[in-house]
Amino acid sequence: MPLNPEEFPSKEAFDPHFKWGVSVAAYQIEGAHDADGKGPSIWDVFTSKRGKVLNGDHGNIACDFYHRYTEDIALVKKLNIPNFRFSISWSRILPKGTGEVNPAGIAYYHQLIDECLAKGITPWITLYHWDLPQELEKQGGWTNRKVITWFEEFTRLCITTYGDKVHNWIVMNEPVVFTGAGYFLGLHAPGRRGMSNFLPAIHHATMAIAASARIIRQIKPEANIGTTFSCSYLEPYRNLERDRKAVARVNALLNRLYIEPLLGLGYPVKELPVLKGLQKYILAGDLEQLSFNFDFIGIQNYTREIIKNSWLTPYIGASLIKAEKRKVPITSMKWEVYPEAIYQMIKQFNAYPQIKKLLITENGAAFPDVKKDGHIHDTERLKYLQDNIKQVLRAKEEGYKVDGYFVWTLTDNFEWAEGYHPRFGLVHIDFETQERTIKDSGWWISKFLS
Ligand code: NOJ
Repeated sequence: MPLNPEEFPSKEAFDPHFKWGVSVAAYQIEGAHDADGKGPSIWDVFTSKRGKVLNGDHGNIACDFYHRYTEDIALVKKLNIPNFRFSISWSRILPKGTGEVNPAGIAYYHQLIDECLAKGITPWITLYHWDLPQELEKQGGWTNRKVITWFEEFTRLCITTYGDKVHNWIVMNEPVVFTGAGYFLGLHAPGRRGMSNFLPAIHHATMAIAASARIIRQIKPEANIGTTFSCSYLEPYRNLERDRKAVARVNALLNRLYIEPLLGLGYPVKELPVLKGLQKYILAGDLEQLSFNFDFIGIQNYTREIIKNSWLTPYIGASLIKAEKRKVPITSMKWEVYPEAIYQMIKQFNAYPQIKKLLITENGAAFPDVKKDGHIHDTERLKYLQDNIKQVLRAKEEGYKVDGYFVWTLTDNFEWAEGYHPRFGLVHIDFETQERTIKDSGWWISKFLS
């Protein structure tokens, strides 16, 4: 059973500088996919193809946040959440990815930022949350090394335009997911497959993160600069050497691939020999440019995975034991509910002395919420959030660095290849009417943070 606010540790148990927030991303909420001069992104194109997204769902309208941001920022305020993380749609401000700027797009993000500031909510901007302009994909997207300079141009525009109002910048969201699902597995936009796409995308994304962060530092030396990584707590299926080795390989891919080069430690080639193929894309001088001294690192954890050795799986030699098969509680994403995972990931990332501040920039859960008499009693989400926050507190009390916690997410929204069926929001959306209803979890957060 979920705890009453009285039984839950108060937010005072965290230090007064601890950052509480909520995260969203442009393509998942904005809609207005071709409004006011916006150019298409890879997600607009991917979702228009048959069979790519469950039920043929797309983000053309989504939560209509583009038109309803005032109402939604008022909800953030009502939930007493002091920090709001959102992303900028690259092709809304640069319809072709580079070159001509779209004044309406520029004005839109000014209005959104101003709305946050007027309500006393601190904006945190993610520069890239997966929606590459389609014009750039036509030229190879993340497989083309030119993407580094394209991303620099976009970064420069964002920082010179909004840098006086916005202090907190997140360069990129979960690079292993958009390169892995988008360029290796073909499950996300742009739907490419194979090592010959994945390897260059990895190296160019890493280079682009560091290059973009340097530009922010150059233009706004006082800015708070971070970037975010997905991570999963991994355990071996059996207590066998070969399963433990499989865990090490998967750990190199899912948890170490991007953070380590960015911290100056190089790619984890030893544990994942297939990464030797990166050599082809690493040019002279790259290694010196691959790292950046970030002010903070964001980690995003949702679950744990159980790994077993499997020589049938190419490159990685490992497979996951699906949570559904393990008879454990699962979410609508079929992810195991395992709150200790977040504690374990905080510990794992604390092992890097180079990380100055560590924030949880996403955590949350999707469940099939049902509206009854105008209320949404989302007891499972409420318990999930409380149990995860308790694990964050546990890590903090044991002396591990952890400086913030952002819930994923404000409203139910477009969950990429899964479409609209997984509901992650603190606020329910009726997608027929766009009506918003605060769920019990949202009311609890509002009380907890009051
Ligand atoms: C990670 C991603 O950043 C976000 O876009 C996604 O919706 C959530 N996790 C849940 O899967």
